[in-house]
Amino acid sequence: MQEERAHWGSSLGFVLAATGSAIGLGNLWKFPFITWDNRGGAFVLVYLACILAVGLPIMMAEILIGRRGRAGVVGALRSVVGPRWGIVGMWGVLCGFILLSYYTVIAGWSLFYFTRTMGWTLSGYPAGLQTGDLFGEQVGNGGLQLGLSLIFSILTISVVYLGVHRGIERLARTVLPILFGILLLLLASALQMEGSGDAIAFIFRPSFGELEPGGVLEALGHSFFTLSLGMGTMITYGSYIQRNQSIVKMSALIVVLDTVIALIATVIMFSVIFSVAGMEEQVGASTVGMLFISLPELFYSEVPFGTLLGPLFYVLVALAALTSTISLLEVVVSNLIDQHGITRERAALASGGTVFLFTVLAALSFGAVPALSGFEIFAGKAGWFSTADHFVSNWMLPTGGLAITIAAGWFMTRAATRDELVDGTEPGWFRYDLWRLFIRFVAPAAVGAVIIAVVFGVDFS
Ligand code: PFF
Repeated sequence: MQEERAHWGSSLGFVLAATGSAIGLGNLWKFPFITWDNRGGAFVLVYLACILAVGLPIMMAEILIGRRGRAGVVGALRSVVGPRWGIVGMWGVLCGFILLSYYTVIAGWSLFYFTRTMGWTLSGYPAGLQTGDLFGEQVGNGGLQLGLSLIFSILTISVVYLGVHRGIERLARTVLPILFGILLLLLASALQMEGSGDAIAFIFRPSFGELEPGGVLEALGHSFFTLSLGMGTMITYGSYIQRNQSIVKMSALIVVLDTVIALIATVIMFSVIFSVAGMEEQVGASTVGMLFISLPELFYSEVPFGTLLGPLFYVLVALAALTSTISLLEVVVSNLIDQHGITRERAALASGGTVFLFTVLAALSFGAVPALSGFEIFAGKAGWFSTADHFVSNWMLPTGGLAITIAAGWFMTRAATRDELVDGTEPGWFRYDLWRLFIRFVAPAAVGAVIIAVVFGVDFS
């Protein structure tokens, strides 16, 4: 006998779980540094336009495919769009698998910085400590990297093992309010810093002369990553929704929350940077290191209440990452349950364990094992970690996203998509025909442009 299919306890449970998936290292780590690299203002505006014109319509498309298909990504695409579309689902599962394998490594770093900052808070910041050196030592220490990644993998597997309602939803309900709370505390502290005015101007005052065409494509590419689109995560989460819940309203809420959090995180980080003399140049040289090199020290020298906020900040990063990693594993697990009839418990252990084998490769690719750190398949992307990130962000998510827009816009009937979106629960501002226009033409054209740019060598990772 088939077990009853899992479902969320309420709309709020779904929204929090999906928002938890969306908010992650993309918001706290990637978005601030690409905003910095693209010199703020105009880039942020373009990013907002991409989120609205491409991200939001695709979010609705993924959720509606999931709800209609009531199965993991392969099964849902097969039943809702057509048997051949299972291959797009498999592409998504593969993408989730690879992305999870290396995302876990960065997530593990947040655990390291949590314990370090905790130690500094309790016994003082060590005199003369260079955070750049500390970073180099931790990423190059193979044993430490394996340990951190293993702890994070175990956390991820445990939550997914417990199930949709008891594991994923319960975690999201507990974690997201904490996450918002910590972020607001950090924001309050950052706004007291003298650099906050400059930071806000940098982020929100557009100067279009400074935006290069590559920046537009980068904004578009990032909108997939940050909203967890393009690989069926939202199809999977959508498959656990009941009818009578509004896909349009819930999608809008997820997208708004994700965007607001990314902007708040950026205001916090830039306020700190603009408050410290010479920091702008230093960060310019290593934008990727903002979160793990520049910030740790500044909590102990510049940020009001930094000794308290430092460890809290790394808890925030860890929690945000965890609500994303569980969604990645759930894509794989729900597929195993639906397509192969494996129990959730076995599926979580088997797939989580297999992903971890690849996590080992990523964890050792920051210098610990030279053979894993130095090889180059894509120009300028040395090592396993960078290669995997490049492949997922540049190739897998955009191609998966394009396939999903085509599926929803061209292969599903108007009646079917309308039935999901216009069911009496939709808000007054929603125009179905506008959504259809975007999903059929605007989104595929925009994503197609990203793919063409990638083919011609533009890099988003
Ligand atoms: N949205 C996550 C972030 O911004 O960190 C990353 C992510 C999670 C992408 C889950 C894709 C996904 F399916």
